[in-house]
Amino acid sequence: MSQRTFSIIKPDAVRNNATAAILSEIDKAGFSIVAIKKESITKREAEGFYAVHRDKPFFAALTDFMSSGPLVLMVLEKDNAIADLRKLMGATNPANADPGTIRKKFAASIQENAIHGSDAEDTAAFEIGYWFAGYELI
Ligand code: RTP
Ligand code: MG
Repeated sequence: MSQRTFSIIKPDAVRNNATAAILSEIDKAGFSIVAIKKESITKREAEGFYAVHRDKPFFAALTDFMSSGPLVLMVLEKDNAIADLRKLMGATNPANADPGTIRKKFAASIQENAIHGSDAEDTAAFEIGYWFAGYELI
């Protein structure tokens, strides 16, 4: 069944001019783009988005990184979108990512890892609503 997920092309990938190449991977994998915008986000917005990680040792560095430059926010749609995007992204640490995945191709480190994808239906719903208004999703 058709499903929506939320994704971010992270600031490292935007800085490295990998945006178009990553969008091409997403396109080739059969996703359609429901909504897309390039933005710079504040530290406070990053903290709200990654609130589930607020007690982790990497929270301050992660939210500094996510607010360090422009990123691309997207809502993507296809059958089984959430799991299929996670597969296309590869492991969090690019050193452990399978060949052919976006993180293997474009990521440099466990923090600067090129792309985000929602990990479950409830987090996808929260994340889509955090960045996009209903009128942007038609
Ligand atoms: P994401 O949420 O961004 O899609 O990534 P993920 O599910 O694969 O990884 P998660 O555990 O949710 O961590 C969120 C992001 O935090 C950064 N991170 N840094 N320094 C570290 O040990 C560390 N661990 C995670 C990464 O940017 C990761 O994607
Ligand atoms: Mg995650």
